[in-house]
Amino acid sequence: MARFEGKVAVVTGGSRGIGAAVARRLAAEGAAVTIGYRGNKTAADALLADLTADGSRAVAVQADAADPDQTWALIERAVAEFGRLDVLASCAGIEHFDALENITPADFDRVFAVNTRGQLFAAQHAAARMREGGRIVLTSSVSASMAVFGHTLYAASKAAVESMVLNLSAELGQKGITINAIAPGGTATDMAAEHAASYLHPELSGKMSLPEWLNVQVALKRLAEPSEVAAGYAFLASDDAAYMTGRTLQLDGGMF
Ligand SMILES: NC(=O)c1ccc[n+]([C@@H]2O[C@H](COP(=O)([O-])OP(=O)(O)OC[C@H]3O[C@@H](n4cnc5c(N)ncnc54)[C@H](OP(=O)(O)O)[C@@H]3O)[C@@H](O)[C@H]2O)c1
Repeated sequence: MARFEGKVAVVTGGSRGIGAAVARRLAAEGAAVTIGYRGNKTAADALLADLTADGSRAVAVQADAADPDQTWALIERAVAEFGRLDVLASCAGIEHFDALENITPADFDRVFAVNTRGQLFAAQHAAARMREGGRIVLTSSVSASMAVFGHTLYAASKAAVESMVLNLSAELGQKGITINAIAPGGTATDMAAEHAASYLHPELSGKMSLPEWLNVQVALKRLAEPSEVAAGYAFLASDDAAYMTGRTLQLDGGMF
């Protein structure tokens, strides 16, 4: 079933991980996709080659999500290339772990610039180009509602996103546009490979491996595959979610 036939999507953070899986899923269901990425042109070009080889219409555009002007240019490129905008999947994000005493104002600004401010302006620019039926899906994290050592900046940057979608739903509802967020749990991407072990309480460090921790902490006892998380974005971007807005979908395999 081609739920996105004739639809045009922008996916930020689309070169790798969850965003790349979202781009694949939306393209596989018929969307023309514009992939935004920060600097990994090799990964973006490889994904683009896959999508176009499968007959999808797609372009990749370097655009720093921390810079609203570049996000604006990304969205304008999608409209110029494909004539309209129906879906924004905002997946670009960066991790941060450090103890309170080490956090600097520069760390705060860097993390919030991408994870929070970047997503607000992506939503603003996308909404300006969408008509009735537009779908905006931002990215939170299971971290927004968990207490984890050293994770304050990242978790707070994502908790703000959940409040943003709740409040923006009122305004965007006036235009017939929905806005929701996905809160993924641990998902097997480069980000998780680098940081997932930091979720363990310091007293468990060296005593428990990540798989052992997942075994007790997650009902389904494993990380998600990016394609499993992408299914949630596709749902929220589709007509199946026409009556859902302002909410955050927890997609975490059952995390305690
Ligand atoms: N993986 C998890 O366990 C997990 C759990 C909960 C939430 N999340 C969230 O899900 C989203 C995707 O995470 P992931 O695991 O797929 O991350 P990832 O593997 O690190 O990939 C990050 C993607 O975001 C792009 N990106 C990063 N900073 C950017 C910037 N300033 N401007 C534009 N693009 C930027 C990267 O582009 P380049 O390739 O060019 O670097 C890449 O495409 C993030 O918002 C993350 O916070 C992830």
